[in-house]
Amino acid sequence: MCGIIGVLGQHEVAPTLVEALKRLEYRGYDSAGIATVNNGVLERRRAVGKLVNLSDLLVHQPLAGKSGIGHTRWATHGAPTTDNAHPHQAGPVAVVHNGIIENFRELRKELADHGINFVTETDTETVALLTQHYMLQGMSPTEAAEKTISRLDGAFALAFLFEGETDLMIAARKGSPLAIGHGADEMYIGSDAIALAPLTNRITYLEEGDRAVLTRNSLNIWDAEGHQVGREMRVIEIDTAKVDKAGFDHYMAKEIAEQPGVVGAAVNSYLPAGGDLVELPGGNIDFTKIERMTMVACGTAFYACLTAKYWFEKLARIPVEVDVASEFRYREPPIPAQTAALFVSQSGETADTLAALRYCAGKADKILSVTNVAESSIARESDQTYPIFAGVEIGVASTKAFTCQLTVLLSLALKAARDRGTMSEQELTDAAAAMRSVPGLLNVALEQTDVIKAHARKLSEARDILFLGRGLMYPLAHEGALKLKEISYIHAEGYASGELKHGPIALIDKKVPVVILAPSDDLYDKSISNMQEVMARSGKVLLISDRKGLDHAGDVWGQIAMPECHPLVSPIIYSIPAQLLAYHTAVAKGTDVDQPRNLAKSVTVE
Ligand code: F6R
Repeated sequence: MCGIIGVLGQHEVAPTLVEALKRLEYRGYDSAGIATVNNGVLERRRAVGKLVNLSDLLVHQPLAGKSGIGHTRWATHGAPTTDNAHPHQAGPVAVVHNGIIENFRELRKELADHGINFVTETDTETVALLTQHYMLQGMSPTEAAEKTISRLDGAFALAFLFEGETDLMIAARKGSPLAIGHGADEMYIGSDAIALAPLTNRITYLEEGDRAVLTRNSLNIWDAEGHQVGREMRVIEIDTAKVDKAGFDHYMAKEIAEQPGVVGAAVNSYLPAGGDLVELPGGNIDFTKIERMTMVACGTAFYACLTAKYWFEKLARIPVEVDVASEFRYREPPIPAQTAALFVSQSGETADTLAALRYCAGKADKILSVTNVAESSIARESDQTYPIFAGVEIGVASTKAFTCQLTVLLSLALKAARDRGTMSEQELTDAAAAMRSVPGLLNVALEQTDVIKAHARKLSEARDILFLGRGLMYPLAHEGALKLKEISYIHAEGYASGELKHGPIALIDKKVPVVILAPSDDLYDKSISNMQEVMARSGKVLLISDRKGLDHAGDVWGQIAMPECHPLVSPIIYSIPAQLLAYHTAVAKGTDVDQPRNLAKSVTVE
């Protein structure tokens, strides 16, 4: 949830640390801080709020030194204050941490019994104080850090820096990812390879339970059992140019606009060489051996799974259960034989989704995942993992990852349908053609930006907004509402159109805009009946449909025209207006689109 960076460099590190933190700010932006060792002296600077506040502070109070650590925080324990900001320092040791130390209260009590005082409310301070405590008992920095790490429960990625040690950093990984970067007589630590991309593309990923001791010229790693181990160094391809806004006002706008390209890349990868046959880049699956599927994810990825349920059940006749990971993992559901468990996660690091995957390991016949990060924990712990080809997604609100996830999930469903003989050759050919039409149709949908912007201005005045959809549009109604609320802070809810009359209709009055997603498919008439129910109660309907659907619906408060499309791909196409409505509403309200309050991109804590 937080971002970590560490540099043992040849030059002054403060600017490098801040630059790397910029690339990690998507992981949290409640506060930021750095610590360096200069001529043996350990010092730190910390500031509440966005990274720019830290940069400003460093102008007035610069930090010298060629080795340092940095942190950008998403608050868990303790409010976002300067005291609670990382690095946490206790005498000769400074620590940055991503994750949660679950036994910090016990450790705190133990330290308090030794007369040690705390100045913050954080779990991380305990790590620094415990390390200092062991050093005061005569342990070396490495021994003290090692002993401390062995006493920690929970999920953490940690980096330690020590007074008097200008060529030493210690890192540990348990439950939270950590990458070590190799430079020319330099060594780096980062929460992800993106943070390190301008510095190096030579990366070693620490594995679960690993502890690493770094100097500028050496990396030594010990596993959870204390055995010294070698971990492969890989050359990672990250196009740093893709990590800027490319002239757009926000990453989110750029990422929405990228969708024809990245979805096209996903289509071409799963439907290669112009044929109708789906090929799975993550390895083949024989769906005749699968009797049921369990799909688990969080947030937007959960809505991708909910959409996939419709595809798999309808096209391949495989019963699918879909669950949010935070519920699934503690419910301990039975996993019957011949179940494939499928986990969808853009980051591949979401703590609840990873825990759900681990629960299924050894119980489900197959552990499958759909992620955007090939090196992520979820990808690595799956039997087979399917890339989505979205490229780096920086905006906290997921957009292109969602449509790429949908593309991959539809491909998997079509593969399942072919294996199981549940679709005719003609239907499969039509479906493949429909998938190939998606990039072009996304471009057409994007042409509606100005119309959507005008409607968004009106929506920005609302206090509550409802999203309705049926069939494949039902999960998208949820996703549209989620997108809107997370970046514009307007209360929004998604409902199945048919559920309206079972309660939510009581919310309708002339102040409540109702966005209805209703392509002219076989459920269109039902959706229009629901629309009439809303209008009969003075509700303001914003109808998103194709030309035929809009013409048939008659006069409504607002209309957004989508291109006609094969019903199977409509959730991908209709994602564009859902995303653009959220984006332009947020812009009209003046909120922080790319870094909405209280959120972070990668949720590596429960
Ligand atoms: C919303 C959003 C989140 C994520 C969720 C899961 O716009 O981005 O709801 O979808 O936190 O994240 P991943 O997909 O990384 O597991």
